[in-house]
Amino acid sequence: MIEKVGVIGAGQMGSGIAHVCAVSGLQVVLSDLSADQLAKAVAGIAKNLDRQVSKGKLSAEDKDAAMARITTSTDLAIFNDSDLVIEAATESEEVKRQILKALVPNLKPSAIIATNTSSISITRLAAATDRPAQFIGMHFMNPVPVMQLVELIRGIATDDDTFQAIKALTVKLGKTAAIAEDFPAFIVNRILLPMINEAVYTLYEGVGSVEAIDTAMKLGANHPMGPLELADFIGLDTCLSIMQVLYEGLADSKYRPCPLLVKYVEAGWLGRKVGRGFYDYSGPTPRPTR
Ligand SMILES: NC(=O)c1ccc[n+]([C@@H]2O[C@H](COP(=O)([O-])OP(=O)(O)OC[C@H]3O[C@@H](n4cnc5c(N)ncnc54)[C@H](O)[C@@H]3O)[C@@H](O)[C@H]2O)c1
Repeated sequence: MIEKVGVIGAGQMGSGIAHVCAVSGLQVVLSDLSADQLAKAVAGIAKNLDRQVSKGKLSAEDKDAAMARITTSTDLAIFNDSDLVIEAATESEEVKRQILKALVPNLKPSAIIATNTSSISITRLAAATDRPAQFIGMHFMNPVPVMQLVELIRGIATDDDTFQAIKALTVKLGKTAAIAEDFPAFIVNRILLPMINEAVYTLYEGVGSVEAIDTAMKLGANHPMGPLELADFIGLDTCLSIMQVLYEGLADSKYRPCPLLVKYVEAGWLGRKVGRGFYDYSGPTPRPTR
């Protein structure tokens, strides 16, 4: 029975995961590198819960109860009584491996570890732990409180008890599971990211401006967001990491990351989370940058 959930990484995804777990009645412990990031995350969660209250989706008492279920620390020792720890840190295999190595001595033997990775091999990450049978991919979508889907990905060693426990938790969180095999970027990002990368190539080759490309795909393909707007929303560093995993993992040149995407990441223009990507977010409305 999963009653206490740990979340590592208090960025946009970790905050969202903590939010939905707390609203569903679970105790949540949230960890990040810095106390500043944790304070920002808690303030962000409170703001998002307020939005749900103002829309009538949640009562003010339920919001207060959810906030009271969340505790934070920069020390991994807070995970010593967690039934499940969900890793939602930066999309880098090196970073995730280091976190997992440092995490396992702090866990009780029955604890399950899930990773929210968008693309990295579950089997390989599982091998960095002492419990590959109790390791699974639990891939939430952004923004977590709004998006219905959770992709579930078993590594080669994931046991059935772990899979069933995480499937049941997905339902408890009010989400719908889609099951994917452990191949680079799973289902959603295997399909979505090449489209985003192609949109960046379309911009790079001068086929259209940022505005033309996003308008074309919104009105022409009926997408709720244009691909460049979506890239900014996901984070351009995350987009690039996923393309690199596809390119290297599937060894097919069709997944080559667009050089313009690489340049934006090198410039630190990572999208909405830093205030600039394909759009500039410093003003009242986002302004296309090219
Ligand atoms: N952004 C999306 O749309 C999206 C969707 C689904 C899954 N994901 C995945 O979720 C994960 C997080 O993405 P995000 O968008 O929240 O990124 P983010 O940049 O908003 O947050 C990452 C957080 O991880 C923290 N972190 C880095 N190293 C750490 C460490 N050693 N210990 C503890 N915390 C550490 C950072 O301080 C940061 O707060 C990635 O694996 C990403 O692929 C992202």
